[in-house]
Amino acid sequence: MFHNIKLKNGETAYVKIYNYIKEVIENGMLPHGSKLPSTREMTSMINVSRNTIIKVYELLEDNGLVYTEKGKGTFVSKVNINKNSDWNIDWLNKINNYAKTAEELDIMKHEQLYKKGMISFKSIAPDESLFDMEELKRAFLNRITLEGEKILNYGYAKGYKPLIDFLMNYMKEKGVNTKGKSILITNGFTEGFDILLSSLTNRGDKILCENPTHNTSIKLMKLHELDIIGVRINEDGIDLEDLDEKLKDNKVKLAYIIPSYHNPTGMVMSFEKREKLYSALKSHEVPIIEDGFNEELQHLGAHIAPIAAISGEENSVIYIGSLSKILFPGMRIGWIFGDEKLIYTLESVKRSRNIHTSSLDQAILYEYMKSGSFEKYVKKVRNIYREKYELAKRLCEEYIPNKFILGDGGLYLFIKLKDINARELLDRCIKREVIFTPGDIFYTNGEGLDTLRLGFSRLTLDEIEKGIKIIGEEAYSDNRVQRTIDS
Ligand SMILES: Cc1ncc(COP(=O)(O)O)c(C=O)c1O
Repeated sequence: MFHNIKLKNGETAYVKIYNYIKEVIENGMLPHGSKLPSTREMTSMINVSRNTIIKVYELLEDNGLVYTEKGKGTFVSKVNINKNSDWNIDWLNKINNYAKTAEELDIMKHEQLYKKGMISFKSIAPDESLFDMEELKRAFLNRITLEGEKILNYGYAKGYKPLIDFLMNYMKEKGVNTKGKSILITNGFTEGFDILLSSLTNRGDKILCENPTHNTSIKLMKLHELDIIGVRINEDGIDLEDLDEKLKDNKVKLAYIIPSYHNPTGMVMSFEKREKLYSALKSHEVPIIEDGFNEELQHLGAHIAPIAAISGEENSVIYIGSLSKILFPGMRIGWIFGDEKLIYTLESVKRSRNIHTSSLDQAILYEYMKSGSFEKYVKKVRNIYREKYELAKRLCEEYIPNKFILGDGGLYLFIKLKDINARELLDRCIKREVIFTPGDIFYTNGEGLDTLRLGFSRLTLDEIEKGIKIIGEEAYSDNRVQRTIDS
């Protein structure tokens, strides 16, 4: 650092050196207690006379910047550090509408949060205690041994080829025609949906979806400033008459549909309904984004083919896959399956955003899935979730005053309460350490104040029972309910 002091002819050397060292100390670059070079060392570093350096050190000491310890040397004193403090930007004033809306719609910040010790029906994440860690460790070691160097370097925007090929085949097994189709790997469903909205819509476009629907999807549609057309869901699922009307009344650009274990209702759309929905959208030439998350959980009855399978060789359905609700959501891996020309362009959008999804994660997931561990795991967890679902459903029917309860399995139930405001009920339940998600956050139009979603995937059977009984007690403590029941 002291080599940087360059003296020009004519400059008073000791003033120049003094000012340099003073500035270095006052800016905190030489912290309190650090030792200065001896006068001899400094002399040879700067190439001035020893007397000049002695004069500088005396001046520094006189001004309280250094102190000398006999026989040990010269040390930096404790001084007020001169930190810049007068340029403070008001960042909140500079934030654009996109960021403002993202913050306003961030339910993690604005909704009631889980606190330790509560029974939480909020989460619909998989139960991590069921993850097969031994198999995952094996998959990790295998892949890193086989091609560690490769997967730790940059990869391809489209994704890790073995995983893409595996998923192509996986889509075929779901009954989907893969001719002329391709896959882009994304950071979960969420990035896939965002990439599609960024690539296919413009501000003000109309997008049709179920009402209620996935809260994150509502947030993304709003962030893209789309005009959301919600189609009513009743006890039989999506209301096809309402769909027809909405299609007649609006020039819709895209439809976003969650046919299996729909979030938040947990309903699985029947095959007949999927066909009717497809032909209605086809007749109005509205392409479909099918959210295929959760399909793997189909534990009631036989597998129902995705809408992408109904479209056959047509290219009108874009399917977004994600295993997030069943396996390793922390890996953030999803995929967009669709027309190969579309995927070709989406690949560039993905590259421009974040180059690619982590190759290490993709490779581990691939190894895990191809080893057959995934199928074994799914069989195991389906049974466990089925038991939780059956218990939760029975208890909700018995204890919670409701107009109807929706959910065909999966990880959550959706309840329409009997004349009770779900947010008021939530406040009372939180006092008793039970928390759930109020249903209105899933509605596109502020409805659903008398609804709630109960996620049970990460709770024990005992917690499910205790929690539902408390919700029931608090619901019945509402005078209006008492009156309806008495009458
Ligand atoms: C409807 C729906 N789709 C997809 C996902 C998964 O999203 P991601 O893959 O980004 O975790 C969820 C998660 O809750 C969901 O509810």
